[in-house]
Amino acid sequence: MNRKIFALVVLLVFCGQALCQTGVKKKRPLPYEYGRVVIDNYSDKADLAPVVFEHWIHRSKFTCRVCHVDVGFAMKAGATGITAADNERGYYCGSCHNGKRMVDGKTVFQSCSKKVTDEDAQRCQRCHSYGQKVASDYDFFRFSEPLPKERFGNGLDWEKSEELGLIKPAKFLEGVSIQRNSLVVQKDFALNPKVEGMPNIIFSHKKHTVWNGCELCHPEIFMGVKRGTVRYSMVDISQGKSCGVCHTTVAFPLTDCQRCHSKPV
Ligand code: HEC
Ligand code: HEC
Ligand code: HEC
Ligand code: HEC
Ligand code: HEC
Ligand code: HEC
Repeated sequence: MNRKIFALVVLLVFCGQALCQTGVKKKRPLPYEYGRVVIDNYSDKADLAPVVFEHWIHRSKFTCRVCHVDVGFAMKAGATGITAADNERGYYCGSCHNGKRMVDGKTVFQSCSKKVTDEDAQRCQRCHSYGQKVASDYDFFRFSEPLPKERFGNGLDWEKSEELGLIKPAKFLEGVSIQRNSLVVQKDFALNPKVEGMPNIIFSHKKHTVWNGCELCHPEIFMGVKRGTVRYSMVDISQGKSCGVCHTTVAFPLTDCQRCHSKPV
């Protein structure tokens, strides 16, 4: 590839990932931190520690669609505006964390409630854990040990883990999801970055649909329905738009150039 353009793009990509916006080098998240969301619209004001939500444990058990379409979480940190009352009534975190639902043979612990005994307080801390020393049931290193590795993000190859049957994310949440007819899967397509020597990007509708269904991308992220509507650029993506909604936060990050730019022209 043209070296100048390459250098420029690398710079822009890393700027987008907040390396140079403040002039301070933001450290790259460690594998167990990647996909972490800290939620603090109300907790701090209520004298509770902010809530820490980890994608890695949850995405190993459920597809993205279960949470982002059926349960209804926003695709942006803090944007859902979850309250204790919502959770108590069985919405958001409370659609699973209600002290009743069984997942993998275990009852999922309850979320927020008004009356708090000493025993409850420990439960509260499992989510209201930001900055606290809280023992968790799941250890990332033990969890990731048997799974195939990748270089960036969580350091795991999520796709292969599922192919090999090492994780089996559920596509359906009893009482919350509605049964859908499966939709016709769209064809894969190539995107040409229009820079000399820069490999094409193969976008797999099929693979993305396994996790995301259609509604996670259409119409909010990609108007879609007709190809060529979207104008992509690496700068937009690195600022968290289009592909970058997921590929800067939860799915493998932009540092993994070749996983997208995989097809030499
Ligand atoms: C399964 C995770 C989970 C557990 C367990 C949990 N919470 Fe929450 N709680 C949340 C989330 C998410 C929010 C929204 C956080 C925010 O925006 O600050 C929240 C917010 C709150 C708030 C903020 C004020 C409001 O009205 O929304 C209070 C108070 C609260 N929880 C109390 C509790 C208490 C008390 C317990 C233990 C009995 C508890 N929570 C356990 C997830 C949890
Ligand atoms: C168990 C539920 C659950 C699953 C499964 C899940 N998410 Fe999330 N996701 C959340 C919650 C909760 C938030 C935070 C929402 C908020 O703060 O309002 C979030 C936030 C996000 C964000 C915004 C992150 C940020 O830093 O702004 C993205 C992007 C995202 N999820 C993508 C995905 C993708 C892709 C998958 C599947 C690989 C996935 N999620 C699976 C619950 C889930
Ligand atoms: C679709 C179902 C589902 C939703 C929605 C969900 N969780 Fe969970 N979560 C689970 C399951 C299942 C586990 C594993 C529970 C177990 O094994 O005890 C879990 C585990 C956890 C753990 C414990 C991790 C550990 O290592 O001990 C935390 C903390 C947590 N969830 C926070 C949240 C918060 C905060 C929300 C809402 C923002 C949320 N979850 C929404 C299903 C869900
Ligand atoms: C991860 C995101 C993502 C998911 C999930 C997804 N799509 Fe797409 N879709 C895209 C993108 C990106 C385009 C291209 C938009 C453009 O270039 O203008 C597209 C384009 C399309 C098009 C136009 C195709 C053409 O050749 O003109 C249709 C129709 C479509 N999608 C339907 C679906 C359906 C149906 C599903 C679920 C089975 C789905 N998509 C799932 C991202 C996604
Ligand atoms: C809604 C979230 C989301 C959006 C938007 C999205 N992806 Fe992905 N993508 C994922 C997830 C989840 C995976 C699974 C791998 C992982 O999590 O690291 C994945 C995997 C991939 C892979 C590897 C799988 C394969 O096809 O071999 C490529 C390449 C990829 N995405 C490219 C793109 C491109 C290009 C765009 C924009 C046109 C895009 N993605 C938009 C969520 C998303
Ligand atoms: C998540 C997928 C993805 C990853 C990872 C990725 N790119 Fe891209 N890249 C794209 C897409 C999509 C385009 C736009 C293609 C088009 O113009 O249709 C693009 C375009 C480009 C272009 C053309 C100029 C521009 O801004 O549009 C260059 C150069 C480029 N990428 C370099 C890189 C480099 C260097 C890396 C690693 C640091 C990288 N890309 C990582 C998806 C990705």
